[in-house]
Parts: sequence; structure tokens; C-alpha cells
Amino acid sequence: MRIILGVGGGIAAYKAALLLRLFTEAGHDVTVVPTEAALRFVGAATWEALSGHSVSATVFDDLDKVNHVRLGHEADLIVVAPATADLLARAATGQAGDLLTNTLLMARGPVLFAPAMHTEMWQHPATAANVALLRSRGVTVLEPASGRLTGPDSGPGRLPEPEDIFAAAQALTAAAEPAKLAWRTVTVTAGGTREPIDPVRFLGNRSSGKQGVALARAALDAGARVRLVAAHMDVPAPAGVELISVGTALELREATLAAARDSDAVIMAAAVADFRPAELSATKIKKRDDAADPVITLARNPDILQELVAARNAEGRRQGIVGFAAETGDERGDVLSYARGKLERKGCDLLVVNEVGHDKGFGTDLNDVLILSRSGDEPQAVHGSKAEVAAAVVARLARELDAL
Ligand code: CTP
Repeated sequence: MRIILGVGGGIAAYKAALLLRLFTEAGHDVTVVPTEAALRFVGAATWEALSGHSVSATVFDDLDKVNHVRLGHEADLIVVAPATADLLARAATGQAGDLLTNTLLMARGPVLFAPAMHTEMWQHPATAANVALLRSRGVTVLEPASGRLTGPDSGPGRLPEPEDIFAAAQALTAAAEPAKLAWRTVTVTAGGTREPIDPVRFLGNRSSGKQGVALARAALDAGARVRLVAAHMDVPAPAGVELISVGTALELREATLAAARDSDAVIMAAAVADFRPAELSATKIKKRDDAADPVITLARNPDILQELVAARNAEGRRQGIVGFAAETGDERGDVLSYARGKLERKGCDLLVVNEVGHDKGFGTDLNDVLILSRSGDEPQAVHGSKAEVAAAVVARLARELDAL
């Protein structure tokens, strides 16, 4: 793989040399593009010796090679470490004053920033806005590590360890690889179920269906035949799917179990109501001033994901099953330990875990998810739009299916 390692002007530039070694030892071809400021911390000789390529910070060297166009165009991946506050600002505003920013503007593949700066700089609203803007464009910006900084201060702002940046780069390129689901039939469930109370009222939830639709689209892009079992959604189903519209959890169960019988994979992205009103009133429940407040008794809905796993195992189908979970950590365990427990209980092959709370989860277009696999691989962290999360899940599912 052709990697551009952009190096910003911070003291952590020396750690980029270790990152460069990790990339070259893994067999990648790395060209280092430092900023002028970076060259004051670590000189060109170090980068040239370690990478085997000549090094320049400006667009005016080797003009015949048109490096300012070529490097970004040809790169399979661009990693910027350390990314200073200045570099993030210049990248966010699309500046092109040196070779590295030109290269970033020409990038076609994934881009990963590993920030390093003082805590105040990282937390400054200007930097936060630049990071949010870059992320909204699909760029991956890692969270800096916490700890001792260059001066007497400490806090978030340290460059993540080279091994962590390397792992993030690996995950990013795996997610960006075109997934292969040609000849596969994939059933995706999406949206939120609605459980009727009477002819006009229902119990619902806030699922928009966006993630499920993004998954259906990603599976189509990967060449699959896609069935979309859609409960209530705020967004339209993508063109090209076989659409099966349902209302309640029980309808979704029936449609999904039927579709699963001849599917290679099932992705359970729907928000299924865990409970439904035990009795459906045939007529509208009236408010009567003299009557007591009405009480709705709930009955538990079946767990469709568990039923899918049980049916697959009973029939010995070679089928991949993906579940979703919304988790929060508490004093008894962190998100990861709860998610591992759920993966075990549900028995699915992949579990996509959304960390909810703070500013994450519902209603946002940016997602932070962990993809856990029963085959025991390391959890894969994906940060990005719902489309990027969907592409990563589909790529991972394709690999699981290939291994079945
Ligand atoms: N699911 C299902 N049938 C249900 C409820 C949920 O198939 N009756 C599926 C969802 O589509 C999702 C996963 O199971 O893939 C979510 O599991 P769930 O146990 O509901 O987890 P959480 O929503 O995270 O909630 P909790 O922690 O309360 O169990």
C-alpha cells in the first residue's frame, strides 16, 4: 500500500519516526511529507533514511514530478501525525500553502489525523470546530491521548502511541476496501416498530431508520441482493432493494424469519420494541372525566435476533448474523464488557455497539461504534457518518461470510 505520512511541527514529530518504521516493516511504501515547522524538530535526513524516498516540504522541489498533484492522487492512505492545531485549521479550511496541504486536497483515499497539542489548544472552540468539520467530511481524527505534555502540564493532547495510530490506519483501510458480497442475499431490518394501543395510538421509538438504510445501500454497493424489512422510517428506502414494509415487532419477526430462510446474512438494525400492549383495544380509548386513569399492560415481545440465531443453528445454515446494541458504561462495567456479554447471550457473529450518552448516538449523523466479532478478533472502532459505519460493517460481514 502507498502511504503518505504527513508530519506536523510539534515535539511529537519524533514519534512519527517510530510510526514510519511500523508501516515500512509491515511492507508499505511510505513517503514522508513534513511541514517546514516539522523539519525543525526532525530533519529531512532522518525521514529519507527511514523511508527510502526523498523528502520535501514545499511544492517547488522536483517540479518535474508534479509532486503536489501526484502524491495525494496516488496515495492509498494519508496519515498525519502529529497533527498540530495549525495543521488541522489549515486542512479544515482547504489551504494549500505547502506540499502537505496540497497533498491533502488531492487525496482520494482515506485520511487519518493523529492530533498532538496542549490541552487548551485541543479544547479551544476553534480547534473543536475544525475537527468537527473535518470529521463531517469523512476524515478520521483520532482523540489525543491523555498524560504528560511537553511542559509541566498534563491532560488530553498527547499523540496517541504509534502502535495505536498504526492499528487505526489498518482498521480504516480495511473499512475502505471494496467489500465483496456479489451473489449473496442480505436481509436488513431497519426503522422502529410501532405497537398499537388502539386504532389511533401506538407505542413507538425514536429510530429514524437511517443506519439501516445506509446498511442496505452499502450491501447493494457491495453487490448483494438486498431485502429491506422496514418498520417505521423517516427516510425513504434506497432504490434497488426488495422492500417489505411492516408495522409491529411481531410483523417484523414473521417477515424477517421468512426472509432469513434463504439469506446469506441478516443485519438486525431495526429498533424492535421489547414490549407491546397486551391487549389491543378495537375502538379508540375515550377520555371520560369520571373514569379512572387507563392502565396499559405490556407483554414482552420475542427477541428476534436470538430466534434467528437459534433457527440458523438448528437448521445448520451457513449464515452471518449481525446485531446492534446501544450501551452505556456504569460503575459495574464499561461499554466493552457489557457488549461482550450481549454478544455471548445473543450468539450473533458480529455486534455493532453504539456508545450512547453525552453527545453520541440518537439523532446525530456521526456515529462512534465498536464492531465486536465472535471469532475473537480485536474490537474494531469506527468513527464516521452512518454511511461509513455501514461500509465498515458490510466489509467486516463480507470477511465473516468468506470464512464460513
Ligand atoms: N432485537 C430483536 N428483538 C427484540 C429486541 C431487539 O431482534 N425484541 C435486536 C435489535 O434489532 C438489535 C439487538 O437485538 O439488533 C438489540 O438488542 P437488545 O437486547 O434490545 O439490546 P439493547 O437495545 O442494547 O437493550 P438492552 O441492553 O436493554 O437489552
